[in-house]
Amino acid sequence: MNRMPLIAGNWKMNLDHLQAVAFVQKLHWTLKDAKHEDDSVEVAVFPPFTDLRTVQTLLDADKIAFALGAQDLSTKDSGAYTGEISGAFLKQLDCRYVIIGHSERREYHAETDEVVAAKVQAALRHGLSPVICVGETAEDLEKHGASAVPVAQLEAALAGVAADADIVVAYEPVWAIGSGQAATPQQAQDVCAKLREVVGSVLGADGAARTRILYGGSVKSANIAGFMREPDVDGALVGGASLVADEFAAIIRYQK
Ligand code: G3H
Repeated sequence: MNRMPLIAGNWKMNLDHLQAVAFVQKLHWTLKDAKHEDDSVEVAVFPPFTDLRTVQTLLDADKIAFALGAQDLSTKDSGAYTGEISGAFLKQLDCRYVIIGHSERREYHAETDEVVAAKVQAALRHGLSPVICVGETAEDLEKHGASAVPVAQLEAALAGVAADADIVVAYEPVWAIGSGQAATPQQAQDVCAKLREVVGSVLGADGAARTRILYGGSVKSANIAGFMREPDVDGALVGGASLVADEFAAIIRYQK
């Protein structure tokens, strides 16, 4: 099955709503100038919550075909949960995706596998496609090898997920995030292949064949093509390099 590649930019806590407008317009025009207007790659941006409405309006008004995603959501749908954001609100803002279980949420907000699984359920309840992040730390790598922790994290995140669920998996070795030291394409492929087996054990063969598995961690224009040549890597979740329009555009045009 041919899977549409997905290049996703996770802005993290960068770009306020005014900067977001300038950035999205610049990215759009950079791709247009390069005549990258075909639909062979899906592009998604994940701004901070406070930018979502503004970016949604811009994408709509200028007919820009980037998908929109949020960086997190609540396990709850509504109620007395100060500071939380419901998946229902994200859906109303035309979000297609929501990142769940990013290592920065796991590390700085003590998100456990149980919380991640509850957030996956919340996303699916609201018709959002969860981008489920898994990955090992340098210590995990040394102690258990590359795949044990991401495989266990994904098994936990997929507990109770139905076979027809629309999900995305992102393999992000923690040691590669923001370090400038990306995994090799072969390392990414080895773990992504194992993650696809996990997807298959829950969603069945069709689910494994259709689900996109991304690599994330120090992706840039100079290394994206190597990842995209691997059979089980269907795209990238890009952090730092997604904040520079020319560089992110070059990543999106990896095959051009
Ligand atoms: O969500 C994105 C990842 O954390 C990767 O970040 O590209 O800055 O290494 P990075």
